[in-house]
Amino acid sequence: MSEALYDLVIIGGGPGGYVAAIRAAQLGLKTACVEGRGTLGGTCLNVGCMPSKALLQSSEKFVDASKHFAAHGIKADVKLDLDTMLARKDKVVDDLTKGVEFLLKKNKVDYIKGWGAIPKTGEVLVKGESGEQTLKAKNILIATGSESTPLPGIETDEKQIVTSTGALSFKKVPEHLVVIGAGVIGLELGSVWSRLGATVTVVEFLDRVLPGMDGETAKLAQRVLTKQGLKFKLGMKVTGAAKSKGKVKLTMESVKKGTTEELEVDAVLVSIGRRAYTKGLGLEELGVKMERGVIQVDDHFQTSVPGIYAIGDCIPGPMLAHKAEEDGVACVETLAGQKGHVNYALVPGVVYTHPEIACVGKSEEALKEAGVEYKVGKFPFSANSRARAMGESDGQVKILSDATSDKVLGVHIIGPAAGELLSEAVAVMEFGGSAEDIARTCHSHPGLSEAVKEAALAVAGRAIHM
Ligand code: FAD
Ligand code: NAI
Repeated sequence: MSEALYDLVIIGGGPGGYVAAIRAAQLGLKTACVEGRGTLGGTCLNVGCMPSKALLQSSEKFVDASKHFAAHGIKADVKLDLDTMLARKDKVVDDLTKGVEFLLKKNKVDYIKGWGAIPKTGEVLVKGESGEQTLKAKNILIATGSESTPLPGIETDEKQIVTSTGALSFKKVPEHLVVIGAGVIGLELGSVWSRLGATVTVVEFLDRVLPGMDGETAKLAQRVLTKQGLKFKLGMKVTGAAKSKGKVKLTMESVKKGTTEELEVDAVLVSIGRRAYTKGLGLEELGVKMERGVIQVDDHFQTSVPGIYAIGDCIPGPMLAHKAEEDGVACVETLAGQKGHVNYALVPGVVYTHPEIACVGKSEEALKEAGVEYKVGKFPFSANSRARAMGESDGQVKILSDATSDKVLGVHIIGPAAGELLSEAVAVMEFGGSAEDIARTCHSHPGLSEAVKEAALAVAGRAIHM
């Protein structure tokens, strides 16, 4: 049993934890990062953002080669080699997680392998393969992330009835995949397997996809994805799943009518949300305040127990890697005597389907509910020359601005590279800018970003190319 004294011990090496560790080290804090899974990068790098984006990229190339190259005058005889595609994905993950390990080393953060618990304030007990050790800590930061929310009555085996983790590694393309939940994971991973040849049926409890997102944008997304082959069963809940003879028999119930349906499929992805993960930390014994499993923190990320902080997916807020990173930086900057701050009103959200769906700020529904008077400017990618040249003319940019001040309140984009285009809007909104500010900014031609400018011009009724 060895002992060391740290300014900060972070439990969890995901985007929240490892970014906090690097920033803490930059600020001169003696820092350790405890991670149990054997590799750094958390859910995001190991089984989340990055493997899913690697497969989205590969499957998009497959669709391009098999369906779209011909229109460009390129003839190809295309075959899928799933093993190579999955191996590439694994290599992307491996390279990235090793990259994070290198970054911790470079910044002189001690990477402690093992599962951490907090027996008392000021101490982290780590159980690793090589035994136990206690780390003494002036401050402890919990960054233990989240896990898939289970659906009662449906047991996952990560082979046939899977969470997102299993859906990143199907050994062969399922003939018929049912995705439970038309949220971000359902649409992204549903897209992957649909592109690779599966029939994909998305079963959603609500009567819309992507709840929380701007309604019109979500509807457009559903339309485009339907055109690509995804099937949607909205207003339905799955009530059971029974495995037999290599198939899964699903029973479903209409939420409004109560009628039931059965569907026999090859695989099922349960993606009905994620929940905070805090198992084994000993938080109940310490008296850390929780609400429905989520750690409660104050404005400086301190839990109800002094000296113990928490960030990322295990505290309230959107479960996004960049939000976890912002939390981590703000938390340790405050610990180091600076004024850390996160603007939660402007956390962008991007769904990496094709086309991408990207939103920041308020939706039309939220503005209506709050009784805010607003103006709308929209511009379709079908009227954007670059999108036409690329053959990517589905979608639109929508800008919502305050009816009186013209301050941008929300931007909702569905279209090519929507996630990248959104960054301009986020920056303008951070500076409290107006639609007119975007409209009067010179955008290079021919560029997809001209659609953002045109939507801003449309707010004032003076779009040029529409
Ligand atoms: P995590 O990344 O979950 O990291 C927590 C780490 O703590 C884990 O590695 C875990 O092993 C470790 N840990 C837990 N308990 C202990 C313990 N007691 N001791 C030691 N270690 C412990 N977000 C985006 O922004 N963009 C995306 O494109 C995106 N895609 C996603 C795709 C999928 C399929 C999934 C599942 C998620 C995706 N997310 C995405 C969400 C993103 O992964 C999370 O929001 C992000 O990882 C949260 O970071 P975190 O550091 O809070 O937690
Ligand atoms: P989600 O919250 O995005 O979507 C879950 C969906 O399941 C909702 O539409 C919900 O109405 C539906 N649902 C809930 N219970 C149901 C039931 N019993 N039957 C049918 N439908 C039901 O959650 P998801 O997709 O699992 O993703 C989890 C988190 O991971 C998200 O909150 C997101 O923050 C993060 N993530 C982010 C990504 C990105 O930023 N690109 C990509 C993937 C995940």
